[in-house]
Amino acid sequence: MSYSLPQRNRRNRSSSANRGLQRETRLHPDQLIYPMFLCEGSGEKQPIETLPGQFRWSPDRMVEICAENQKKGINTINLFGSTNQKSPHGESALDPDGLVPTAVRLLKQELPSLNIQSDLALDPYTTHGHDGILINGQIDNDATVDILQRMALVHAGAGVDWVAPSDMMDGRVGAIRHFLDLNGFTTVNILSYTAKYASCFYGPFRGALETAPLAELKDKKTYQMDPANRREAFREARQDTAEGADAIMVKPASHYLDVILALKQNFDLPVAAYQVSGEYAMMHAAAQKGWINLTAAMEESLLCIRRAGADMILTYFAPEMADRLNQGISHD
Ligand code: PBG
Repeated sequence: MSYSLPQRNRRNRSSSANRGLQRETRLHPDQLIYPMFLCEGSGEKQPIETLPGQFRWSPDRMVEICAENQKKGINTINLFGSTNQKSPHGESALDPDGLVPTAVRLLKQELPSLNIQSDLALDPYTTHGHDGILINGQIDNDATVDILQRMALVHAGAGVDWVAPSDMMDGRVGAIRHFLDLNGFTTVNILSYTAKYASCFYGPFRGALETAPLAELKDKKTYQMDPANRREAFREARQDTAEGADAIMVKPASHYLDVILALKQNFDLPVAAYQVSGEYAMMHAAAQKGWINLTAAMEESLLCIRRAGADMILTYFAPEMADRLNQGISHD
């Protein structure tokens, strides 16, 4: 040998055991949140074409699935209602006997330790598919916040542990916190969609919820963030922190890892990341073609989201990932 090389980085990568000794990031089922879709009726398990392996469940079937998943260590779900009770202003979102509150009551009764987060936004309930009240072709911020406050109260009354406003209206976290506190729900957490970008990767989700195709105002760019911006996420996070959020979310996840890291380094609230429907569906589609290995893609994508700084990850892979983790399989 003609030279000495004191630092050989490959030495530490030489075996699975050595790699395991220095692995900086690990996943655990505790960190995963399973987003789930509800539908009316009983005995229902409706496949979602755009999300392979995901279903719309009637409340009774959802209880069964959540019980199974709790055995795997998935204790937190994030609930979305899929309803055909749509109207221009989405009033059915406030029905205390609507799909989501009814399901929450049943889930809490059957599975008291299940940690339930519910989505707060109007898109499943409006005929135009927007997350807020549409007046003269514009989303009215304050009218939307007003209905979201009341929606939060309906969900809290039904027993949710968290409300998760996904609408991106200004001031909604503070308004919801105030209204919940005023009505005695000081213990209900708020998971704020803090940096939610106007992303094409929500496409498969909109199919799952059968949301209307945004006819009048064609996109959500006047309320969701521009994918080009990172500094704007700081302003959102500062505001949500001041208004009383309990966790701040970045969404989507994989194309926004820099935003996850930035919020993790600059704020002290827990950071959530949402691996959205398009991220999940793309991996499934590529795997179906034989172009990637689905299990490897699932593990790598979730590990990297965690490495970037996410404390908790919303993912449609939650039960499958928990299965892998419970088998004691390392990331190697
Ligand atoms: C709407 C909402 C969306 C998602 C969660 N809540 C879609 C949207 O903003 O149009 C997307 C979730 C996913 O794609 O998995 N309130």
